[in-house]
This record gives sequence, C-alpha cells and structure tokens, in this order.
Amino acid sequence: MKKYIEEIVRQAKVRARQESDAEPEPGLISPVQWPVNCDVKQGLEGAITGQTEIGYVNGPKGWLIYRGLDCFDLSEHSTFEETSYLLLFGKLPSKTEMDEFMAKLNSYRTLPDEALRLLDSLPVKSAHPMSTLRTIVSALGMMDPNSDVTTVKAETEVAIKLIAQIVTITGAIARIRKGEKPLAPDTSLSLAADLVRMMTGKMPNEEDARIMDICLILHADHGMNASTFSTMVVNSSLSDMYSSIVAGIASLKGPLHGGANEAVLADLEEIGSVDNVQAWYSLSKVGKRRVMGFGHRVYKAYDPRARILHPLAELLSRRDPNVRRLYDTAAELEKWVVGDLGKEKGIFPNVDFYSGIVYTAMGIEKAMFTPIFAVSRMSGWGARALEYLKNNRIFRPRAVYVGPLHVEYVPIEERS
Ligand code: CMC
Repeated sequence: MKKYIEEIVRQAKVRARQESDAEPEPGLISPVQWPVNCDVKQGLEGAITGQTEIGYVNGPKGWLIYRGLDCFDLSEHSTFEETSYLLLFGKLPSKTEMDEFMAKLNSYRTLPDEALRLLDSLPVKSAHPMSTLRTIVSALGMMDPNSDVTTVKAETEVAIKLIAQIVTITGAIARIRKGEKPLAPDTSLSLAADLVRMMTGKMPNEEDARIMDICLILHADHGMNASTFSTMVVNSSLSDMYSSIVAGIASLKGPLHGGANEAVLADLEEIGSVDNVQAWYSLSKVGKRRVMGFGHRVYKAYDPRARILHPLAELLSRRDPNVRRLYDTAAELEKWVVGDLGKEKGIFPNVDFYSGIVYTAMGIEKAMFTPIFAVSRMSGWGARALEYLKNNRIFRPRAVYVGPLHVEYVPIEERS
C-alpha cells in the first residue's frame, strides 16, 4: 500500500514537471539588498519582508520547496517529523539527530493535567475548534515557567514542544466534541498516525497513517502567508513563542486562509451531487461568490499540494459512497472553475480543495480540518519565527493617513 501511495506522488510530480516550464523568478531567489524596490499592491501583495532559507514558493511554476527539497520528494520519502527537523534546523537529520529529535518530541506529547482540566471547563462542543486550540496554546504558555525567555535556544525548545503538543490538543478537542474522553498519546506511533487515532478513537490503517503524514508534510510551510507573517510579527516584538503561535492560529482560522478547507466541504455538501455543479457554479458567478479552495495570492499555476491531494482524495473516496459523491462533485467543480478561470485568471485548486475529502474519508469531522492544518503549520511558524529572531528587527510598516488634520476638540456637552 505504501508503494502505491508513493507511486501516486511520483505521478503527480511527473505531471507537474510536464505542465510547468516557466523560469525561476530571479528577484525572489537572490539575497535581499535593503532598501528593496518592489511594486506593492493592496494586501501587501508584492512586498518583501526579508530573506529566508526555509522555503520557496514559485507561483508561476507551481513549485514548493523546503530548504531546497521539493515537496513532491519529501511527500514520497520523508515523514512529518523529519520535515519538521528540516524546516527548523536547515538540513535533513542524521540517524542520531533524528533519534534525539524523536525522543524530544515524544517527551513533550503528553499534555499537562492543568491543560486537560482547562479543556474540560471550556465550551469545546459549541466553540470553533480553532478557538479552543488558540486558547489552550495560550494557556500552555501560562503553564510554562520558561515561556518568557525569548532566546533562540529557549524558543526553539518551545517550538519543538508545541509541534508535539498541538497534535495531542487537536486529538483531545475532536474527542471532547464527540462527548468522548481525550486519549493519551501513543509514542510508538508517528505524530500523523497518532493524530488520526486520537481524533477518531480508532487505530488508523497503514494507508490513512501514510496519507495523513503526507498531508502534514504538505501543509508545513508556505512562505509569507498570513498566519506565518502574523506569527513573525508578534515574535519580532520579542514577545514569546506561545503568543506568536497563538497569533498564527488566530490568523489561520479565517476562511480566506486555513479555514477554507472547512468551507470547501460545506460548499460540496451544499452542491450535493455532480448534477448540480453547473447550476451552483453559475449562481456563484452571478452572486460574485468566491469558490472556496480555488485561487491563490502566489500560485498562478496548479498548486503542487493539490496535485498530490487530488489523487489521494480519489483513492480514499473508493471506500465510501458518500465520500465518493463528495469527490465526484469536487472533480466536476474543478472542471468548471478551471475551465472558466484557469487560463484567464490563473485560478486553480489550492491545498484546501481536496484535503477535506481526505480527512472526511478518515472519519474526521469538518470543523477539525483547520486544526489539522495548524498541527502541520506549527513547524513552519516555528521555523520562520526562529530564523527571523536570529537577525531580529521589529516589523513596523506604515499606513498612509487620509483622515482630516487639525480638528478642534469639542467638549461632549457641546457636541451635536
Ligand atoms: N473564486 C472565484 N474567483 C476568485 C477566487 C475564487 N476562489 N479567488 C480569486 N478570484 C478572482 C477574484 O475575483 C479576482 O478577480 P478580478 O481580478 O476580476 O477582480 C482575481 O481572481 C484575483 O483575486 P484577488 O482577490 O486579488 O486574490 P487574492 O490574492 O487577494 O486572494 C485568495 C487570494 C486565496 C484569498 C483568494 O483566491 C480566495 O479568496 N480564495 C478562496 C479561499 C481559499 O481557498 N483560500 C485558501 C488559500 S490557499 C491555502 C491557505 O492559505 O490557507
């Protein structure tokens, strides 16, 4: 089974190579010379925040690279734990380094009792799981006596701790939402396998464990996206890693960012079946409604992550007619959207379009999709915040003031 999944990734890579022939972007792969001249558009499109060795997204070409390694190769050969090491420390680990990293991650997987008690006292069933996740990570900061030490060494330790703990928190939230008791982590399992087990209450089969691992690898880092930038902005004030990650989670929650995976499934459920796709899409155009899971600020070619997730969703959809219906509906919607907006506007499925189908096939409820994204992106948030901290300068841009000047203060009793 593992071999079959790896073959799917390899074929996705071949398709990506056949379809993308644009040149790399010279201005985005050479050292930054300050001051930088760039054409900045609304939403900071085109702005350069600095230079990085962590990852590169080539939008026109549809590349995603972590520390020089292609996301297709990492998906085929690596694990989420190894990819996290790569992002944090800049190279693939030796066997000894990997063993030490695993031992450290495993030592952090159990949540403090205080955190579990807090979870018990919160309205976990009614609140959005991203709000619960944000609250618990914030509370973990309060429970960690060293949380305010903001050296690179101390913050690296917190980042590793959170990579492990966010998995357990996400598992616990999923269980509590179903009225079940959280499960303790099983350190004999990978983070991906244990995430599925702690969320669903069932030991995942080899296929699910491997595919969840690929999902975590693919979501781990993605340039200056809103949540990574939010994390870095908070960390740049020499606040603490927990606070910075809380900002990342808060930003990821929105439907224009990580929340899109949940919104996609809601759309697919609303469409209902392949037969309704054309009418639904026509109506969405009339209402100028965005199709969730499509479009990207950087990619104007097919998102490489979606290239991998699409066939994996198809594979998993074979096991359940309801998931098959979702998959067929999604594949039909892709035809309509790409046929209409692909060439003209560079709009293709993004990472969030097929991931929810994968998670649904694993028995995971829709509201938990974005927390799974956060589990993975924790590595990228941590790595980017730490890289910036080594040569820190507080982020402090400006806005152009267009309000009135020199307005006279009028006491309240004289105001009309
Ligand atoms: N459906 C229909 N049209 C779209 C879509 C979409 N999903 N996305 C962009 N467009 C159109 C948009 O209407 C605009 O057309 P025009 O030039 O005629 O006004 C053009 O494409 C450019 O759009 P934009 O708003 O300037 O693009 P942006 O870079 O500001 O936004 C985006 C990027 C991802 C927020 C946007 O594509 C979107 O809202 N997508 C749906 C939400 C989504 O799937 N988000 C997940 C993003 S990927 C993973 C992640 O970051 O979490």
